[in-house]
Amino acid sequence: MVKKNIDSEALYKEVARLMADRKQCVALTGAGVSAESGIPTFRSKGGLWEKYDPIEFASIEAFRKDPSKYWSLRGEFIKDYDRYQPNKAHLALAELEHVGIVRCVITQNIDGLHKKAGSKNVIEIHGNLMEIICLVCGKGYKAPHIPDGMPPHCSCGGILKPNTVLFGEELPVGVFMKAKEESASCRIMLLVGTSAIVQPAASLPYLAKQNGAKIIEINIEKAFPEADYFIIEKAGTALPRIVAEVNKFSHE
Ligand code: OAD
Repeated sequence: MVKKNIDSEALYKEVARLMADRKQCVALTGAGVSAESGIPTFRSKGGLWEKYDPIEFASIEAFRKDPSKYWSLRGEFIKDYDRYQPNKAHLALAELEHVGIVRCVITQNIDGLHKKAGSKNVIEIHGNLMEIICLVCGKGYKAPHIPDGMPPHCSCGGILKPNTVLFGEELPVGVFMKAKEESASCRIMLLVGTSAIVQPAASLPYLAKQNGAKIIEINIEKAFPEADYFIIEKAGTALPRIVAEVNKFSHE
C-alpha cells in the first residue's frame, strides 16, 4: 500500500476521486474538527487535559463524589451552548452527506456541532452536552436552559448530569453497536481531527480497514499510521477543498 504524504493538488484530486467513486463513506471525528469553532481539544498543545486531570474532572467516580468538578469544566460551555457555531469542516461534512458521499458521521465530540451544521445521520458516541438529565427523577433539560447552582439541581432536588459518557462509564450499547456496523460496512473512513487513542472509538478505524475500507486521515499531524492517505492540514481547510474537488467531478 502506497502511503500518501504530500499535501498537493494531486492528493486532493485522488482522494476526491476515490470518494466520488466508492461513496459509502463514514467520518469518524474528534475534537480537532471543532478546534476552529474555538473549542479546545484534549491532547493538543493547550488542550483541556493539560490543565485538568481527566480522572479528577471527567470520571463517573469523581462525578459521584463531587459533581461540581465536572460542572466547573462543562458548565460554561452548556450556558454558552448557542454561541458555538459549526465551522467550515462541519459544514463540508454536511455537504458531503447531502451529495450522497458521506453516509454517516460518528463523532466523539459532545458539542453538537455536526447536527448544527446540518449533518443528519450523526452518531454521538460520547453523548451531547445539550441534554441534561436529573439523576433522581429523570427529568430532561436542554442547554442552555438549566437551573442556576453549582452543581445545578432539578426542580425535584436531584443532581443534574449532562448526558455524556464520563471516564469509567460504558458507551450506550445500541449507539456503539450502530457505530460498529457503520464502520464495518463503509468503503471509506475519513478520520478527522482525532488522536484515535481513546477506546472503544479507537477500534473503529481498524474495524473499517479489516473490512476493506480505505482510511483517509485529516489532521494537523499524523495520528493513525495505518491510514492509506494523509492530509496534514486543518480540517476547516482540507474538507472544503475535498468538497470543491468532488463538485468538479459531478460537473464533468
Ligand atoms: P484529542 O485532543 O485527543 O485529539 C485531537 C486531534 O485533533 C489531535 O490529533 C490534533 O492533532 C488534531 N487537531 C487539532 N486541531 C485540528 C484542526 N484544526 N484540524 C484537524 N485536526 C486537528 O481529541 P479526541 O481524539 O477527540 O473523551 O479525544 C478523544 C476523547 O478523549 C474525547 O472524546 C474525550 C477525550 O478524553 C471523553 O471525555 C470520554
